[in-house]
Amino acid sequence: MHVTHLSLADYRSYARVEVPLDPGVTAFVGPNGQGKTNLVEAVGYLATLGSHRVSSDAPLVRMGADRAIIRANVRQGERQQLIELELNPGRANRARINRSSQVRPRDVLGIVRTVLFAPEDLALVKGDPGERRRFLDEMITARSPRMAGVRSDYDRVLKQRNTLLKSAALARRHGGRTLDLSTLDVWDQHLARVGAELMAQRLDLVAAIQPLADKAYEQLAPGGGPLALEYKASSPGIVGNAREELYAQLMAAMEEARKPEIERGVTLVGPHRDDLLLKLGQLPAKGYASHGESWSYALALRLASYDLLKAEGNEPVLVLDDVFAELDSRRRERLAELVAPGEQVLVTAAVDDDVPDVLTGTRYAVSEGTVERL
Ligand SMILES: Nc1ncnc2c1ncn2[C@@H]1O[C@H](COP(=O)(O)OP(=O)(O)OP(=O)(O)O)[C@@H](O)[C@H]1O
Ligand SMILES: [Mg+2]
Repeated sequence: MHVTHLSLADYRSYARVEVPLDPGVTAFVGPNGQGKTNLVEAVGYLATLGSHRVSSDAPLVRMGADRAIIRANVRQGERQQLIELELNPGRANRARINRSSQVRPRDVLGIVRTVLFAPEDLALVKGDPGERRRFLDEMITARSPRMAGVRSDYDRVLKQRNTLLKSAALARRHGGRTLDLSTLDVWDQHLARVGAELMAQRLDLVAAIQPLADKAYEQLAPGGGPLALEYKASSPGIVGNAREELYAQLMAAMEEARKPEIERGVTLVGPHRDDLLLKLGQLPAKGYASHGESWSYALALRLASYDLLKAEGNEPVLVLDDVFAELDSRRRERLAELVAPGEQVLVTAAVDDDVPDVLTGTRYAVSEGTVERL
């Protein structure tokens, strides 16, 4: 698939902008702070309903405006669709597909698929487990949009269970009413059921992406690997990968953790505490890999994501935000050759010379909120 037109209103620095897009490579070039990332961030928002830079929508709305609009025409084979999203911080966002407003924002997921690599991705390697969980969860949703529902079910169940545990912990401390354990049993089952589904999808993803990430790293940095990806469940005893197995193991782990959970008033077991261990050679990348290695590692994870989605039949838009300036010239050329054949590749760079020559295609100059085709 590819985006044929992007239109923004009151999004970030843009009061209004219209950007016609071609398949193949498009480079947005311009000095720092002119609005290049803002454009590709908006494309990414259509695919994930979130920004790769911020966790809430408020900063996406232009200062002084009360809502932002992202509109895109999307072509998938012969099919053309129009998506419109209205971001209303503090209130529900709204969505339209082909001008029909009978849709929820979540229904938009799956129409635009993107794999976006940005400087923030260094946190995939160096950051907290939450960064890696987000990577996994965005990918399982890209592979199967119904996982958006599973993820929000999990968040809801977790929140309710935590509320229950918190009141149990308080009651215990203040000698009040003790918790009715049968209520907790019900929430255990909910959590294990939805949690097992989430974990099964993540494990399947890790198995599928591992060889592709290793291959991508080898192409970017020959001889530098191998890469190994290992899913790390937060509690011992979780070793399966089938949903039924995981359900039983999560139930057992919760039983085990029941005392500390009631003492602390928080859920200590489940996919919200899991991590993805990234190894480079024999060592964990976090804490050991150099800056350049970490950068290439994160990039390899994104390229592997791209290859996986493509192999599964829906080629995403590849977005490379500010990637070339960080790479040495050899890695730069290798990356350019890898991505050049993509159906649609959106690249940003501060300096024209940073965009390798093999990435010929459309170029736009981005300056002070205007986007001009060169
Ligand atoms: N909600 C907002 N309202 C108004 N302006 C905003 C808003 N959010 C961001 N901006 C402005 O957008 C600009 C940043 O745009 P962007 O991140 O796209 O820059 P860039 O061209 O990618 O720069 P760089 O080369 O440094 O990455 C900043 O000047 C910032 O002040
Ligand atoms: Mg930028």
